[in-house]
Amino acid sequence: MGETIKIHETAFLTATFRSIDENLSGDPFAKLWQNEKTDLWLKEYINNVSTEEPYCHCLRNRYFLDQIKKSIKQNNIEILINFGSGFSMYPFLLDENLIHIEIDKPEIVEHKKQKIEDWQNKSLIPKRDIHFLGVDFNEEYESELVPKIMSVKKDKRSFILIEGVLFFLGKKETISLFSLFDSLQNKGDLIGSVSFQNNVSETISFKKMLAFLAKKLTKDQELDYQLIDDEFYQNIENYKLTDKQDFFSLSKKYRHATSLSKGEILNETMYLLEKIGSKKI
Ligand SMILES: C[S@@+](CC[C@H](N)C(=O)[O-])C[C@H]1O[C@@H](n2cnc3c(N)ncnc32)[C@H](O)[C@@H]1O
Repeated sequence: MGETIKIHETAFLTATFRSIDENLSGDPFAKLWQNEKTDLWLKEYINNVSTEEPYCHCLRNRYFLDQIKKSIKQNNIEILINFGSGFSMYPFLLDENLIHIEIDKPEIVEHKKQKIEDWQNKSLIPKRDIHFLGVDFNEEYESELVPKIMSVKKDKRSFILIEGVLFFLGKKETISLFSLFDSLQNKGDLIGSVSFQNNVSETISFKKMLAFLAKKLTKDQELDYQLIDDEFYQNIENYKLTDKQDFFSLSKKYRHATSLSKGEILNETMYLLEKIGSKKI
């Protein structure tokens, strides 16, 4: 087996998965993140975990892309705040008037910022209004982050996205994040979130993923993963669960066919929440 992977480097894998079927993901820019090291991880991951992984990520991207587009029209969303944004390319796939805040570990946002500027200078991607903020959700980050977000967000209608991140965080950090979302958002604002349900841990693909990560993640990082059931989303104060999808429902929606059995698919669940309670700050 080749080199080890750091948690933040999983962002390269996710981006590359999306480039495998651009029609399905709706993302013609994900391929810009492709590099030799990630190509090797991708092959190892597909061979060791599930051959359907690229399509799971394409469907996830497509679902949120379509939901954000819809929310711009229906909920008058003006700003997308992406927590653990990694190398996703939503800013370049959405209307140029949308404002973006991208939050991730400092090394990720720094690298993304540089790459984006470079690709924009070469006219490979369009210019967009993006604000990059570097934080670690496992540390005390709110007192510095909130004023920075609010200075851009002001009273604008927001869509908060958190995808591919909660698996790596603990319950306490997750509750803090959703409480932060509540304090940032107004009635009618939206959250898109992704997580694995408890029952996924029984599938062969999930066991294979854990074995792969145990072997591949750098030794200084314990993988303390998190699974989340529907009840968590159904009981978030001030929010109503408005949509729930997974690989199987999205495969139907976007006419994607697979020959794998259910257990061979690493099935994530996508949630859409709307703020119904009154604004806190
Ligand atoms: C699998 S990637 C997903 C990236 C992106 N959301 C996407 O779907 O393409 C996970 C991302 O979560 C970020 N992340 C994980 N733990 C984090 C933490 N404690 N603080 C900030 N970001 C974190 C990683 O740096 C990485 O960019």
